[in-house]
Amino acid sequence: MARLGYLTFVALAASYASALPSTTDYGILESRGYGKSTLSLIQCLKTKSVPFYVQQSPDWTEYATTFNSRLQYEPAAIALPTTVQHISDSVICASNNGIKVQAKSGGHSYASYSTGGRDGDLMVDLENFNSISLDDSTGVATVGAGVRLGNLALGIWNQGKRALAHGTCPSVGIGGHFTHGGYGYSSRAFGLALDQIVALDVVLANGTFVHANPTSYPEVYYVMRGVADAFGIVTTFYLQTSPAPPTVIQWSYDLPQALTSVSAAVDTFKKVQTFALNASAVDRNLGFGVTIANNATSFTVHGTYFGTEAHFNTTIAPALLEGLPTPAPDSSVEVVDWITSLTLLGGAATLAEPLHGYNERDNFFAKSVTTTEPFPDDALTSFFSYVLNEGAKPPVSWFSIINLYGGPDSQILKYNESFAAYAGHDDLWVIQNYGDVAVNGTYPASGIEFLDGMNNAMTSKLSEYGAYLNYVDPTYSPAEAHQLYYGEELYQKLQKLKAVLDPKNVFSNPQSIQA
Ligand SMILES: Cc1cc2nc3c(=O)[nH]c(=O)nc-3n(C[C@H](O)[C@H](O)[C@H](O)COP(=O)(O)OP(=O)(O)OC[C@H]3O[C@@H](n4cnc5c(N)ncnc54)[C@H](O)[C@@H]3O)c2cc1C
Ligand SMILES: *[C@@H]1O[C@H](CO)[C@@H](O)[C@H](O)[C@H]1NC(C)=O
Ligand SMILES: *[C@@H]1O[C@H](CO)[C@@H](O)[C@H](O)[C@H]1NC(C)=O
Ligand SMILES: *[C@@H]1O[C@H](CO)[C@@H](O)[C@H](O)[C@H]1NC(C)=O
Ligand SMILES: *[C@@H]1O[C@H](CO)[C@@H](O)[C@H](O)[C@H]1NC(C)=O
Ligand SMILES: *[C@@H]1O[C@H](CO)[C@@H](O)[C@H](O)[C@H]1NC(C)=O
Ligand SMILES: *[C@@H]1O[C@H](CO)[C@@H](O)[C@H](O)[C@H]1NC(C)=O
Repeated sequence: MARLGYLTFVALAASYASALPSTTDYGILESRGYGKSTLSLIQCLKTKSVPFYVQQSPDWTEYATTFNSRLQYEPAAIALPTTVQHISDSVICASNNGIKVQAKSGGHSYASYSTGGRDGDLMVDLENFNSISLDDSTGVATVGAGVRLGNLALGIWNQGKRALAHGTCPSVGIGGHFTHGGYGYSSRAFGLALDQIVALDVVLANGTFVHANPTSYPEVYYVMRGVADAFGIVTTFYLQTSPAPPTVIQWSYDLPQALTSVSAAVDTFKKVQTFALNASAVDRNLGFGVTIANNATSFTVHGTYFGTEAHFNTTIAPALLEGLPTPAPDSSVEVVDWITSLTLLGGAATLAEPLHGYNERDNFFAKSVTTTEPFPDDALTSFFSYVLNEGAKPPVSWFSIINLYGGPDSQILKYNESFAAYAGHDDLWVIQNYGDVAVNGTYPASGIEFLDGMNNAMTSKLSEYGAYLNYVDPTYSPAEAHQLYYGEELYQKLQKLKAVLDPKNVFSNPQSIQA
């Protein structure tokens, strides 16, 4: 009997809301673990004609599978809105039944928060919100919240040779990335991804749809730039683009000798840090980072520069390379156009991403450290001792990227917590420590401890530090997460706004704001 019911349900659920379970099928769903509130949510979505999937739908696996295969969750249902009304109805149906909601844009959350970050929430998948249109006169791009970074970059380039600062991975979604910071090599020139948001269309916890900017719903405009996961669903972004740099110097120096001893590594990083703070050499047009990769067998300083190769060669490169180990022959300095630069940074043949059916995965755990101050010598010694002693035989494949956010002329530094609900505008460096295993393998517990150890080697020597929200780390308790991501002052402000904008805590994940 259960089998008959199940098959009936599969057939009925095959194409969204047009084929939903009849009354009797609810008994079957219940027997398959659906609680009362989930059944009532499904009934509500059906009544309001919101397109959605449940676990028995044929396409469930495609939509529910997380990018981070280490953290797979089962939502109560997955809504696939095609209109703003569908999003509003989804939020109201969930709210009325005590079910939590998270939007999904690119699905690249390190903690799989767009799939809820736990079982039983409503995922609102924004893949149908994928338009990109550039206003030539203002340079403002109007962009659907399901667009991925590669398609965004191509769209504004093709429509007007424009650029935005954002991360390097073309498959990351703008919904998570632009609302929780967003760093790329052009961020020192243009700001963080979120600094370029001039307005947003948002569905709030009570289902109301608003246009938010500095004068219309300013508190919504404020919180959605930094903490969108806890306050609403962006449907459309209005993004201030910049003219794309006519040429980009794409450079990379491979310094293997930096890894021959702890003192060599510390000395090399200290010289890179001195360079990073040298206002005679560094301006906003330079973006870079240090990557220690392949289990501590490579040490690379790499980035981009928007200017002439002659200036790069005569001023920047000599100041950077002064006193450093000799770069290996695979180091490179290339002159490319903007789109070629982004393509090279993205590491794939093209920036174009599928609008539907994206299926790349990774099985990973990552942590971050943010600091507003230069790394002191003892922190570098502690970090590189760990890297060289523990990192050569790790339980996982790992890399560490240390990116320069601040420093001379960085445009990120123009902003602070009064501009957006984001605590990291005054960061100097942001470190990401990332480990992975084969997608179909098992990420070992020792791989979590290993990266915790790498983070601690650094943070134990810093008087103040934070963590970067776009590298969200689910191993922190909510209290630890709030301290590291927002700090006391901002968190208290967010709690007050949460009580007004989302008193029933509809938009929630395991680390989100608690009023
Ligand atoms: C391979 C890779 C490379 C990366 N490179 C960079 C980089 O160069 N620079 C950098 O800064 N970061 C980088 N990141 C981190 C990335 O910025 C974050 O993972 C980002 O949050 C992903 O956004 P998303 O839309 O793909 O994620 P999702 O999983 O869809 O969403 C993440 C969070 O945002 C919420 N959210 C999504 N859309 C909306 C919306 N429309 N309204 C409200 N809330 C929403 C979700 O509910 C969830 O809580 C990288 C990540 C990966 C996996
Ligand atoms: C800073 O850069 C300038 C210009 O390249 C260089 O002449 C100077 O020596 C550098 N200063 C330090 C402290 O490295
Ligand atoms: C800059 O230096 C690179 C090698 O590092 C060289 O190939 C290139 O020709 C130089 N360009 C200019 C304009 O000096
Ligand atoms: C790093 O070490 C892990 C575990 O020993 C191994 O599986 C992986 O292949 C190594 N990765 C690289 C790039 O050397
Ligand atoms: C934040 O920036 C605003 C606008 O630039 C400025 O008026 C304010 O003093 C700054 N606040 C802090 C705490 O730096
Ligand atoms: C994992 O996937 C790889 C590549 O697709 C394959 O070669 C390997 O056999 C798979 N391993 C397991 C345990 O399934
Ligand atoms: C929904 O919430 C917003 C923000 O608090 C408020 O401005 C609006 O009036 C509310 N709408 C309804 C219908 O209650």
